[in-house]
Amino acid sequence: MNYQTIIQQAQHQQEPLKADRFVKISDRKDECDIPTDAWKPLLENSYLQTWKGIVLPKGITEMALYPMLLYELQPKTIIEIGAFNGGGAIWLADCLDVFGIEGRVHSVDIDLSLLDEKAKADSRINFIQGDCNNISAAFPSELLCALPHPWLIIEDAHINLAGILEYFHASGLRSGDYLIVEDTNKVHWGLWQDSWDDRDEMEQGANKMDDLRDWLKNHEDEYMIDTYYQDMYGYNGSKNWNSILKRV
Ligand SMILES: C[S@@+](CC[C@H](N)C(=O)[O-])C[C@H]1O[C@@H](n2cnc3c(N)ncnc32)[C@H](O)[C@@H]1O
Repeated sequence: MNYQTIIQQAQHQQEPLKADRFVKISDRKDECDIPTDAWKPLLENSYLQTWKGIVLPKGITEMALYPMLLYELQPKTIIEIGAFNGGGAIWLADCLDVFGIEGRVHSVDIDLSLLDEKAKADSRINFIQGDCNNISAAFPSELLCALPHPWLIIEDAHINLAGILEYFHASGLRSGDYLIVEDTNKVHWGLWQDSWDDRDEMEQGANKMDDLRDWLKNHEDEYMIDTYYQDMYGYNGSKNWNSILKRV
């Protein structure tokens, strides 16, 4: 290994047609190379992590993976399900700007009252008040039809996962688009188990990997896991297990 081979290996791994880069859910395990004990220090302070002073509760490995994916995908549309205070949406919009990508971020939340003032004032982001249990009202098909591809959809509200996947699958996701389901890591829900107030979110969150696997079983040939990003920091070395998906 030398500096020249490092560059060559990185270029080789990214080749979209590399035979083993994209794999089916049936070829994946719900396991992770990062040991269970390591998740506590990696995640317990994630709500202290900020971007421009706004809470940005992404995992540390996602902070590195998302920009790489954005640069490769060059999404014209990002749909974020679960806006919280808008830190994630601003970070995504900033990444698009840095890479010179002319894309727009649409971010939905059932409660936009927590939005930071900087997020409210950010014209690059379309914040939508809406309920994941009625996702077609938040993203009606007329709106989806008008949104340019490629898309990146990030599910991060932990409610009605199967309904959301089915809706965007039937109403717009095309070959080449990406979909990330956040927080499918079975370990980390255990860390919040006793302290989180919203029991429905906790229960549905803890089942996310199972729900995703069930849904993907019927779409094995349509949505594949991009192992280049998924396994960059070890097998499923992420808060998001088996859930960096490309529609093929
Ligand atoms: C983990 S936070 C999102 C974090 C955000 N994506 C980021 O990176 O900064 C989850 C959000 O989902 C929202 N949420 C919970 N239930 C919802 C529902 N039924 N419909 C829409 N949003 C919901 C919560 O209000 C909360 O703001």
